[in-house]
Amino acid sequence: MNKAAPGSLLGIEHLEASEILRLLALARRMNPRKPRPLLRGKRVLLLFYEASTRTRSSFEIAAKSMGAMTTLVLSSGSSIEKGESLLDTGYTLQAVGADVMVIRHPNAGAPLLMATHLDIPVINAGDGMHEHPTQALLDAYTILRHRKTLKSLQMAIVGDIYHSRVARSAIHLLSKFGARITLCGPSEFLPEVATSLAPGLHITRTVEEAVRGADAIMVLRVQKERLAGTKLRLQDYISRYQMTMARMKLAKRDAILMHPGPIIRGLELTWEVADCPQSVIVEEVHNGVPVRMAVLAKALGKAR
Ligand code: CP
Repeated sequence: MNKAAPGSLLGIEHLEASEILRLLALARRMNPRKPRPLLRGKRVLLLFYEASTRTRSSFEIAAKSMGAMTTLVLSSGSSIEKGESLLDTGYTLQAVGADVMVIRHPNAGAPLLMATHLDIPVINAGDGMHEHPTQALLDAYTILRHRKTLKSLQMAIVGDIYHSRVARSAIHLLSKFGARITLCGPSEFLPEVATSLAPGLHITRTVEEAVRGADAIMVLRVQKERLAGTKLRLQDYISRYQMTMARMKLAKRDAILMHPGPIIRGLELTWEVADCPQSVIVEEVHNGVPVRMAVLAKALGKAR
């Protein structure tokens, strides 16, 4: 197979810890409120085959904050609807002058396929059940605003781990820095193979056990249609796995509550938990902009 175009960010799994630290340090120097023309004249192509609010808007604001132009192509309303293939779409968008492509796709490996056939860097904005690397970076950035280090961080991840690219990227990242990760969810959402993602992962079946003493809790979205494919009824899921204030109290007093969004209040977490002082859900979204500025600057060779 061809090599991915230089500057591409396809996942966290194969990044060195030092590369992650460099990106986070670069993100700390980025301020979207003080635009820098680092990417003036560059064209950032946002190609989204799936719905997105946070990732799409923050990549666009990140790019524009650095003087780049952005073009958004959605699967609906583009020639993708007429049956144009992924690669032909990629060749077309490269031909119109894209300097970097940000892609979200329902199939794992779509960004890799693009990156190994195009000459421009490709950034994975979430591919199927595979990875969501910029989400993991912004989550690490957020944790490090509340904790000095990721080493020995006690992290609980609760919900549909199996289908979650967010969980997969977070696990890859946090385990590179020695975090202790506990996964919790119904067996259908937490197959035993999850432990092969990283050494030292723990699995528990009760939320109480998962969150006890945790420094950070990441709650994942649960899709009702996926729940329908399990033996659990919605009400059972809520009573066993929903994050409540009573469960939050089992974590460290200053533990942070994370969620990649979109949140479904009343399902995976209560309204009270979503808005509690420990919730950093909005902060995660906010931090997505400097992190994506850093990722774009690096992809386009402008990271110093
Ligand atoms: N966290 C996340 O990827 O959100 P969006 O689907 O809104 O981009």
